[in-house]
Amino acid sequence: MFITFEGCEGVGKSTQLNFLKEYLNRTGQEAVFVREPGGTSIGEQIRKVILNPNNTEMAPVTESMLYASSRVQLIDQVILPALRAGKIVVCDRYLDSSIAYQGYARGLGADLVKKVNYYAVENCMPDVTIFLDLCPAESFRATPGNDRMEQENREFHNKVYEGYKAEIAISNGRIVPIKPSFDKNVTKNLIIDALRQRGAIK
Ligand code: TYD
Repeated sequence: MFITFEGCEGVGKSTQLNFLKEYLNRTGQEAVFVREPGGTSIGEQIRKVILNPNNTEMAPVTESMLYASSRVQLIDQVILPALRAGKIVVCDRYLDSSIAYQGYARGLGADLVKKVNYYAVENCMPDVTIFLDLCPAESFRATPGNDRMEQENREFHNKVYEGYKAEIAISNGRIVPIKPSFDKNVTKNLIIDALRQRGAIK
């Protein structure tokens, strides 16, 4: 089973990924956790180029292709081998991030981003995607971070959120929106229940 996590900045994704890791460990379910961009040696080098705040001149198509390149490397080296070995794979961000950030917020359009990613993901689509459903105005993070994407303005991040909403509507139930609660344990249980109901975890 291939599970991905998505959401805008500062919605508590890392905390929830840690909770899921603990749960899978405790219940004896073998899982591999990875993140995007990165997760491989080459991918981490690409990550540095993408997120470096000095790279202000980066063209949106370059950005999209760099994310896709990091993704191909991760699929080849980590995701497919783990899935073939019968393990659960949990990825922090994946194709839906590219559609929301590069497609909607950068303005490349969802279709172009899907084309750029076609060779990467054609045989490797998530079974379930958990979307932590908080808009930028509701996010738990008070101050923006330092990387190139986090430094984009509120309008950019609102478009990211709208992009996700549009993708949810056409995802045939693959993307499951979950409204984070201030009580992290409540959110954790919502996520675990959603994944169990869909047969992604036990
Ligand atoms: P990261 O520090 O991992 O962010 P977060 O903790 O919010 O997941 O940085 C990844 C950044 O890259 C984040 O701002 C989202 C963005 N991103 C894209 O724009 N396109 C993509 O395809 C992916 C995977 C991430």
